[in-house]
Amino acid sequence: MRSSTIIAAFAAVGSAMAQRPASTPICDYYTAALLKNNTAANQYTLLTLLVNTAVIGNYTTPNVGIAANGILNNGTYKGEPVSLLQYFDGALESTNFNGKAIAVNFLDGGGAAPLLLNMPANNTSSIQYGLITHLYQFFGALLSCSEYGAMGFPSYKGKTSMAEVHRFMDLEAAEVGYFIEQVGLSAASFGVTNDDVTAVGTALTKLFDYKCAPPVAILPNGTAELQSICQAEDCPVAPNATCAAYPLMGMPTSPANASVTVMPTGTVAPSATTSTASMFTGAAQAIGAGVGSVAAAGLFALALAL
Ligand code: HEM
Ligand SMILES: *[C@@H]1O[C@H](CO)[C@@H](O)[C@H](O)[C@H]1NC(C)=O
Ligand SMILES: *[C@@H]1O[C@H](CO)[C@@H](O)[C@H](O)[C@H]1NC(C)=O
Ligand SMILES: *[C@@H]1O[C@H](CO)[C@@H](O)[C@H](O)[C@H]1NC(C)=O
Ligand SMILES: *[C@@H]1O[C@H](CO)[C@@H](O)[C@H](O)[C@H]1NC(C)=O
Ligand SMILES: *[C@@H]1O[C@H](CO)[C@@H](O)[C@H](O)[C@H]1NC(C)=O
Ligand SMILES: *[C@@H]1O[C@H](CO)[C@@H](O)[C@H](O)[C@H]1NC(C)=O
Ligand SMILES: *[C@@H]1O[C@H](CO)[C@@H](O)[C@H](O)[C@H]1NC(C)=O
Ligand SMILES: *[C@@H]1O[C@H](CO)[C@@H](O)[C@H](O)[C@H]1NC(C)=O
Repeated sequence: MRSSTIIAAFAAVGSAMAQRPASTPICDYYTAALLKNNTAANQYTLLTLLVNTAVIGNYTTPNVGIAANGILNNGTYKGEPVSLLQYFDGALESTNFNGKAIAVNFLDGGGAAPLLLNMPANNTSSIQYGLITHLYQFFGALLSCSEYGAMGFPSYKGKTSMAEVHRFMDLEAAEVGYFIEQVGLSAASFGVTNDDVTAVGTALTKLFDYKCAPPVAILPNGTAELQSICQAEDCPVAPNATCAAYPLMGMPTSPANASVTVMPTGTVAPSATTSTASMFTGAAQAIGAGVGSVAAAGLFALALAL
């Protein structure tokens, strides 16, 4: 997609956003408000803008005067310093590869540069392409995009248990809190109302920011699986906690520093990454092929009711 197109569409929009009707999904409402036509392609563009901004910080012109610092940048959460880059650039052995903790560089597709151009990566075969497109898809489901799964908005192709995906990261409350805050600030930077930002933040917090949460289905037609992303000792314990269902009774150990040398460019030695390139190869191909239709899910309402 061309960034000039998006900028033009954005420029045509005033900063004052009206109240969203409760029956209109957040995704659909803001797609129409910001990009005019509520098509699958525009919904996917909205998720591209939302995720890219959350990941690298606000970069679109204009925004409504709210800054997002970015998940990959050092920041603070409630006064506590947070550095999430180390989980993405291969510095830590924090990726769950078939039950084994390994170091993976998820920024092998050009890092921030393509995101600034409203793209997921500079190369569809990169691990970065897989991760970032999975985030578009997953958050599109969370925000109840009506065209999720239709041609132009591929359904989620990643792993469905967030507890498994984040198992070896040993993420603390401030780290998960910072991530969720950046998603909220990204949305706010586009003019999403306070009420809607709060609703998204509350849903993300309930689903992912407690340790030992019982299994729950998140995606349309999903089966109940473990979803706690906050797993470190300082994470609040979920209501109805089922720690015994989690590996090590829900008490993970902190990830080791990568044993391979991390290059100044943020790339790691091939031995650490080649074994994992296959993780996303299928996904990239499936995305290119397009997929069948999926009924819109009342997922967001479900998340709020938890
Ligand atoms: C509300 C909080 C979060 C949500 C909803 C979320 C969601 C996701 C999703 C959907 C994926 C893709 C999984 C796949 O492709 O199979 C992912 C991967 C990843 N997330 Fe998160 N995440 C959250 C918080 C965090 C935090 C706080 C970190 C810390 C840095 C983090 C680091 C990562 C990394 C490194 C990956 C790649 C791991 C892999 O694919 O094996 N996430 N996340
Ligand atoms: C909106 O999208 C529909 C379906 O793709 C198309 O028929 C219509 O012409 C579009 N409207 C505008 C204003 O682009
Ligand atoms: C991010 O948003 C803030 C607040 O609107 C603005 O001052 C800053 O220039 C923006 N940064 C970029 C790179 O657009
Ligand atoms: C971010 O913080 C980490 C940990 O404090 C530090 O090692 C790193 O140099 C910082 N990075 C930048 C770009 O400031
Ligand atoms: C994409 O970026 C990576 C660095 O992350 C670089 O090595 C590679 O050459 C770039 N590929 C293309 C097609 O630009
Ligand atoms: C794209 O990235 C993959 C994985 O890093 C690499 O094998 C391939 O050579 C890259 N292609 C281009 C055109 O840069
Ligand atoms: C805890 O579990 C009980 C019994 O399954 C259920 O009635 C209750 O709603 C649950 N509470 C929460 C907060 O999930
Ligand atoms: C990784 O290295 C840093 C210093 O570079 C150190 O503070 C930290 O304790 C190490 N982590 C582990 C798990 O060894
Ligand atoms: C979910 O279930 C509905 C109703 O059974 C079905 O129409 C739809 O195709 C299913 N979606 C997926 C992704 O399986």
